Amino acid sequence: MAAILVTLAYLRSVIAIATASQKGGVGKTTLCINLAYSLARRGWTTLLVDTDPQGGVGLSLARSTRSKQGFYDFVCGEKNFNKLVLSTRLPELQILPAGQYDACARRGWPVQEVPARLADLLRAAELRGVDCLIMDTAAGLNGMSESVVKACDYVILPQQAEPLAVRSVPHMLETLARFRSEGAGVKVAGILLTMVMGDHQISQKVVSELRAMLPADLMFDQNIPRMPSFLEASAMGVPVALIKRNPPPEALIFDQIAAEIEQRTGLLQDREASDSHASLLD
Ligand SMILES: Nc1ncnc2c1ncn2[C@@H]1O[C@H](COP(=O)(O)OP(=O)(O)OP(=O)(O)O)[C@@H](O)[C@H]1O
Ligand SMILES: [Mg+2]
Repeated sequence: MAAILVTLAYLRSVIAIATASQKGGVGKTTLCINLAYSLARRGWTTLLVDTDPQGGVGLSLARSTRSKQGFYDFVCGEKNFNKLVLSTRLPELQILPAGQYDACARRGWPVQEVPARLADLLRAAELRGVDCLIMDTAAGLNGMSESVVKACDYVILPQQAEPLAVRSVPHMLETLARFRSEGAGVKVAGILLTMVMGDHQISQKVVSELRAMLPADLMFDQNIPRMPSFLEASAMGVPVALIKRNPPPEALIFDQIAAEIEQRTGLLQDREASDSHASLLD
């Protein structure tokens, strides 16, 4: 009886959002870094978690994070979550790097324990006061990426605006439906079109075909265009907003996506309950 009461009393308030794609190189890591930055700028304490053994976030942001412990060390039994989390210059943005995947794999992978360790990770993040986790995954919906998506509340599906997308999106949605039929609570936050080329006929055709084919509420209103500044930002190891003193217009795209995420995931609910308009003067 006591156990039931404890379970009922525990309602997790942190929201965990994964990004996932079958295909590699569609812009997941770029989205995670820039979205986490925008959410943090909007006042949410945000933890960016790198679950890609290749360490995509670490590679993009700072190569030194590759030598640090992180996500895989926690999954393999490291108890002290707080010592694994890196602070950034933006107090609301924290990073859990991928950590030492190879060392953990050599010690033997606790496959059966992964779901419980992921649940522990979400609880530990909540105890730290994190509002929102953004979890970058390796391409493919199997192995650790499957476990991470299943452990999250929402998944964003970045989809490159190319002809194959029209065939791969239904397959992706079927896989997520299977996860739910297997007991996972994860919901699709939305499909987000990436690397859209405004002046390219085929790219534009894919965008209009997908928007015609899928329910409007399944698609983010905002697309991510293909732009050289994203490559520049990766090379510099910063979110796009930080490549210049005054953020370029494309940095605002992620504020728009963050605002959509707030609506789509219910992140705003608690805040709205106590929200009133802000005053310009004291
Ligand atoms: N909108 C964009 N415009 C131009 N280049 C982009 C854009 N988004 C990402 N890129 C570049 O494309 C490459 C792949 O992006 P990214 O690493 O974010 O993809 P990914 O889905 O995380 O890949 P992987 O599946 O290998 O982890 C990177 O070099 C990145 O800088
Ligand atoms: Mg990546």
